[in-house]
Amino acid sequence: MSKIYIFTGKGGVGKSSVSAAHALKSASMGQRTILVSTDMAHNLSDIFEIKGEKDIVNVLPNLDLYEIDPGYVMENEYPQIMEYVTKLMTGTGDMDLSELGMIPGTEELFSLLRIADLQESGKYDRIIVDCAPTGETLSLLKFPELLTWYMEKLFPIGKVGVRVISPVSKHVFKVEMPNKQAMNDIEKLFMKLIHLQELLKDREITSLRIVTTPEKMVVEETKRNYMYLNLYNFNVDGLYINRILPADMDNAFFDQWIRIQSEYIVAIRDTFGALPIYEIPWYDEELKGIDNIQRIVDDVLKEEEVFDQKIISDRECFTQTEDGYDLLVSIPGVEKQDVDLYQAATDVVIKVGNFKRNIPLPNVLRTYEVMGASFEDGKLTIRFGKGE
Ligand SMILES: Nc1ncnc2c1ncn2[C@@H]1O[C@H](COP(=O)(O)OP(=O)(O)OP(=O)(O)O)[C@@H](O)[C@H]1O
Ligand SMILES: [Mg+2]
Repeated sequence: MSKIYIFTGKGGVGKSSVSAAHALKSASMGQRTILVSTDMAHNLSDIFEIKGEKDIVNVLPNLDLYEIDPGYVMENEYPQIMEYVTKLMTGTGDMDLSELGMIPGTEELFSLLRIADLQESGKYDRIIVDCAPTGETLSLLKFPELLTWYMEKLFPIGKVGVRVISPVSKHVFKVEMPNKQAMNDIEKLFMKLIHLQELLKDREITSLRIVTTPEKMVVEETKRNYMYLNLYNFNVDGLYINRILPADMDNAFFDQWIRIQSEYIVAIRDTFGALPIYEIPWYDEELKGIDNIQRIVDDVLKEEEVFDQKIISDRECFTQTEDGYDLLVSIPGVEKQDVDLYQAATDVVIKVGNFKRNIPLPNVLRTYEVMGASFEDGKLTIRFGKGE
């Protein structure tokens, strides 16, 4: 079964370098490895000093490189559906699109679907994903869930066949229904989206890794990123502190910086104590070319255990209680007063600052109500009961 490692972090912290180092390490262990970039501003081919290609290229024994062009994937594999989804997303219907929060470019989704295909193909032991900077990654990762949610609302798939409701929908939603071909594609896409969510949230398949640097703004964003990834129920099981100045520089200018960095390193260790933490030195040159990337491998990734997947936060689930069900959601690093919770039709909505997540209730819970909630140590427990 292929494992997926997704590297995220703020712009410029070293995601591409660190993910490339993992790819080198993995290939040298004899594992069939593919390094994938979902960042539209690809730079893996720069790092490996090769010409950029739209398709998969082999760069070393056991190591392939793939800079995904979602537009290309979309046009080649889902031509019908794109036209239709674009129409939906631009809001020609009566549905309240604001409910969805911001909808990022649908294009991004296709990179993820591509990764799901690679995973399913079984061609690789490890799929290492180099992401675009945080903001985009977050929308990328929450997109499958959002879109599944949206499709569930629009087409009650599972209750009525999609094709059956076609004439009704046109009337109710004032949305032009897709043609038959696109409809098949939508059903397929819907199933794929569900599968994709499963893959990304499966603790035995997907690891999220965060790259950071020891400076204030980056650490702050790292905390938010971690909270948000947890809110969306991804398992973050590794943190990389990059660009650490060597302690023995003997230069007054850098002494101050070394002190500042070490304060943040301590703070990071405190905050992320639950995670394996890797510390990467600041090198004396840019990390271009395999030899330079290999330096990270030699200094920090010596142990094969870096690929072990650890369960840091459990997979979210509803557990039965005496008078109903409990749902536990991990939201580390926030205060109780920052968490807002309400029930909207068939969803529970959790709001943390600007972040909002709709969790659709499973059918068995449709007749239940939120009876209460408690928040302790970064864990939100929502209690569902039958009410009066
Ligand atoms: N530990 C390090 N020592 C020296 N240079 C580094 C180190 N880590 C990264 N760099 C350099 O910093 C630059 C940014 O690194 P990289 O491209 O890996 O970051 P990124 O997080 O992928 O950036 P982006 O957000 O733009 O995709 C590159 O020129 C890289 O060679
Ligand atoms: Mg990058």
